[in-house]
This record gives sequence, structure tokens and C-alpha cells, in this order.
Amino acid sequence: MSFPDPHSYYNSAQPKARRLRLKLGVDFDAKRIAGEVVLEFGRDIAGLLDLDTKGLEIKSVQVPGLGPIPWELGEPDAIKGSRLRLDVPAGTHEVAVTYLTATDAMALQWLDAAQTEGKVAPYLFSQCQQIHARTMVPCQDTPVVRVAYQAEVTVPEGLTAVMSAGPAGDEATGDGRHTFRFTMPQPIPSYLLALAVGRLACRDLSPRARVWAEPETVDAAAWEFAGVEDMIVKAEGLFGTYPWDRYDMLVLPPSFPYGGMENPRMTFLTPTLLAGDRSLVDVVAHELAHSWTGNLVTNASMEHFWLNEGFTVWAERKILRTLHGDDAAALGWAMGQKSLEDSLARFQAEPHLTVLRMHLEGIDPDDAFSSIPYEKGARLVAALEREVGEERFHRFLRDYMDAHRFTSITTEQFCAFVEAKLPGALEAVHARTYLDEPGLPASAPQFRSAQLDTLTALAETWVAGGRPTESQIQGWSTNELLVYLQKLPRQVTQADCLWLDAHFQLMGRGNHEILVEWLTLAAAADYEPAFPRISEVLLRVGRMKYLRPLYGALAATPRTRALARDLFAAASPGYHGLSRRVVASVLETYEK
Ligand code: BES
Ligand code: ZN
Repeated sequence: MSFPDPHSYYNSAQPKARRLRLKLGVDFDAKRIAGEVVLEFGRDIAGLLDLDTKGLEIKSVQVPGLGPIPWELGEPDAIKGSRLRLDVPAGTHEVAVTYLTATDAMALQWLDAAQTEGKVAPYLFSQCQQIHARTMVPCQDTPVVRVAYQAEVTVPEGLTAVMSAGPAGDEATGDGRHTFRFTMPQPIPSYLLALAVGRLACRDLSPRARVWAEPETVDAAAWEFAGVEDMIVKAEGLFGTYPWDRYDMLVLPPSFPYGGMENPRMTFLTPTLLAGDRSLVDVVAHELAHSWTGNLVTNASMEHFWLNEGFTVWAERKILRTLHGDDAAALGWAMGQKSLEDSLARFQAEPHLTVLRMHLEGIDPDDAFSSIPYEKGARLVAALEREVGEERFHRFLRDYMDAHRFTSITTEQFCAFVEAKLPGALEAVHARTYLDEPGLPASAPQFRSAQLDTLTALAETWVAGGRPTESQIQGWSTNELLVYLQKLPRQVTQADCLWLDAHFQLMGRGNHEILVEWLTLAAAADYEPAFPRISEVLLRVGRMKYLRPLYGALAATPRTRALARDLFAAASPGYHGLSRRVVASVLETYEK
């Protein structure tokens, strides 16, 4: 017996569920889900069965047709939650658990009508990655186990439910509620279970792609993401036929803590992507690429998270390159380099979190989260590609996908496969230094372009008084401006801020990457005119990527530290639990 995943009670001597049947009753008044899950095993599973739960109130455990069976809920662990141990009698092929979720279930955010765009109905959404599915459903909450699922979700009449699955009909219950049915025939890891309920409308973007959002934003969303079919076609060129039938997207309310989440058949997206100029669609390319790297071939545990994210960032930039050319891709790599350097600096005192092959026993995977698995991982993939050549690597990728479809693998399995197919390549790129050593290897690939060199050189002259010319300013794309801002010194003066805003109209930007980069500079410079806009962003948006630098910049300066605290106090009731945790830890860093 072994525990293949340090974040789960699943042990390898026990049977793996193959399928889940879910019934979820969504109660907005109580902010709870009343659930029943049947775990199907497809064979006799007599003996002990351990499930992951966190904060769940277990009502009963039954073998359908047989009746209640003995169960025991273990002491809660702060990270893993409580083990639910079932004693399963002989002849059992499936077990049913009925339960209630906690009002503070980490997977779920319950929004009042006021926190939505339309302000007329409440909203619920889930976010199960990394290990929060267990706060929504008792299950084997590890990607080592993959399950197909079907679900029946009952919600107040007038609201719509969507899941990471295909729709399978809906009907009124007759008592003011409505039931939506779903089916996900392909086996997925538990972190890809997903549910959202709200006042939703949709628009078709192609025969296989559709976007969902609140009625107030659905047309803007349809315009912003109109190019998704092109992206699907490009991604298929890299990886082979799209394996999940439909690619639909849901634009969430602004408290959604991530940029995007690759829930199969229903990518979840932050509304901050609706910049009005399609400048942030790289996030869609990224979530789409996860359809293969992550959802089809999955990391076996969070210790191998780079297999999901590193490959996906690499693929995202490949797609970007085929759509928009080499310069656009080079800018993408440059932005990635910046977030990699920020993360390496943040984890300076925790070098064990800067390796790709992580060791996370006793560590909350949300605390280990950073750009490192993304950007260091993508650089290892790019190094392998450069080593063997684009064509050979392309064939390798197809083989890799074919050999591991619908499975969850470790770094070690990945390396063994590379060694078999591309002998010597791992050693030639010094793969071990990426996988096991902190920081970024000196040999890591560089991504340069003439345009990037110009931006870098120009930004380096800032302190000496160098400024872009009027024609440069007019000619820059959003991403060029972003890279330029990222390359400016972190500490500029208030006069510098005035100049930047006057020349780039930064305060009114709808592109949140630029807006937040600017506001972070302004906060560090204690530039008062930016404070109302900073408050506005922090009170509305819950995306952690933006909260971290903004609160960090405010809290780093003694003069604005109290402001950071006050803003957090005002904003935190509207934040997702994950965002709240991140901001609290940022502020804590500066309290000491
Ligand atoms: N799967 C991640 C989001 C995630 C990671 C959720 C870890 C929970 C735990 C998603 O694919 C992602 O990487 N999103 C990025 C997009 C970006 C890299 C283009 C984000 O949210 O910023
Ligand atoms: Zn990702």
C-alpha cells in the first residue's frame, strides 16, 4: 500500500471509482449544497474505502439496494481535511453518500445579487483545483483517480446551471425550482469537476463553441472571444483532434480568483478579459491548450503540476505564434520571464518551491502556487524542442498524447517516455537542473526579437531621461506597452507617474494587465491621483494575480500600509476564500 498523492487519503491498495452520479440541490438562502453522490466501481469492492472530505456534514452512507453501512469521519487535517472511511460489505459495486456542504466550502463562492453584473439574482460558482473538490463532493480527490460523471442539479427557477460536462436536458420541478442534467462520458480528475449557477445567457461562436455570461455582458464576451474557433483549429494542428466534443466558455463575475480555469467543455474565465480589443485572448489559448495538456494527459499529483502548466504555456505561445507571428510570441515569453523573476524573488527563502518536480508533503498546494511551474516548465519544454528540432518534437508530442490519453502521469513517467522516444535529449538540455534544482538554469532558452530589444533598451534609459517618442507611443500594441511598463524601474517618481499617465492614458485602461501594472508602479511611487482607481479595482476584482502586486505595493510603503489594510477590510467580504488567503498573507509579510 502506498499514498501516491500527498494531498489525498487515497491509498493505492484501494479500488478506484470509475464513475460518479451526482444529485446537487443548490440552496442560495442557506449557502449550502445538499448533495448525494454515488461512486461506481464496476466491480466488487468489499473492504475499507477512504474518501476525501473537507467541512462536509455527512448524513448517511448506503449501499444502494442494501441499506446503510458503517462509516467514520477522521480528525480534520488543516490541508487534507477529514478522511471518510467506509467499511464496505462483500458484493458491493457502488456506494452512496448524502451530505451537506459547509457555508465556507473553499470550492464554492456564493455571490449576492449585488456582486453580479445584472444585480438581480444570486450566483454560485465552484473552483476545485487544486484540492477543493472534497469541499463540494466526498470523493477520491486526487488526479490519480479519473471518473466519468453524470449530474442532476436543482436550482431556483429562472437560474441556469452549467457544469464541466455536456448538457443532458432540464425540466421544471413544479415547486419553483428547475433541474439541469449533465453528462461527462470521458474520465476526468476530480479537480475538473465544476459547477456554476446564475442568470446566464449564451451566444454561439462556431458549431462547437459557445460563450456563456450574464445577459448584460454576453454580447461583449461573444465579440471578445469570436476568434476561438481559429484557436481550436491551430491547437488541433499541434496536438490532434479536439478530444472533448464541445469547447464552451463561461465568463464569471469579477471575484473569480483566476484568469481562467480549464474545466473540460466549459472553461471558466475572469471578466477582466473583456478589454474590448481582444488583447487578452492568450488566456483562452492557454485554457484551450489544457484540453490536451492537463485534461487529457494529467499531472498525477500537484508535485507534478509543471506537466500541466509548463506544457500548456509552451502550447499557448505556439498557438499565439501561428496566429500572430514571432514578435507576438516573443512578447509573450518576455512577459512570462517577468512573472518568473517575480516568483523566484518571492520564493527566495523557499528554494524547494522553485524546482519543477516538487515535494509537497505537509505543504498546501495553493501556497506552493507561483509562475515557476508555468514559466520554468515552458522553458524546459522549449529547450527539448530546440534540442531535437521542431518537426521531431511535433511527432513526439503526438506520440506523447496518444500514449497517455486519459491518464495521469508523474514527472518520472514523463522522463522515461522522453528517454525512450528522444534518447539523450533530457541530458542534452540538462533537464535535471530544471526538475530538481532551484532557480532557472543558465542554459535556459532565450526568446528575443528586434522589437523586444528596442523596448528593453528604451526602458533601460528611463532613469537617464530616455522617453519613447510620440510615434513610438502611437505605434505600440497593448502588449508592447505592457512589456515596456514591466521593464521600467519598480521605483519611479511621482513626476514619472504624471508623465506616464499623460502620454499613455493609463488610468482609463480597460486592459487589466496594463491597468494593474500601472497602478502597481503608481502605488509604489505613492502617487495619490491613482488611489481612487486602485480602490475601485481592489473593491471589484478578485483575481489573485492582480491582488498580490497591488496590495504588495501598498503594504510595502509605511505611508500606504493602513490604506491597504482598510481596503482589504472593505473588499474581503466580496472576495473568494482563496483570494482572501492570498491577500492576508501578503499583508502579513509586511506587518512583521
Ligand atoms: N489551471 C490554472 C488555474 C489554476 C491553477 C487554478 C492552480 C487553481 C490552482 C489555469 O489554467 C491557469 O493557469 N490560469 C492562468 C492563465 C494564464 C497562465 C494564461 C491564470 O489564471 O492566470
Ligand atoms: Zn493553466
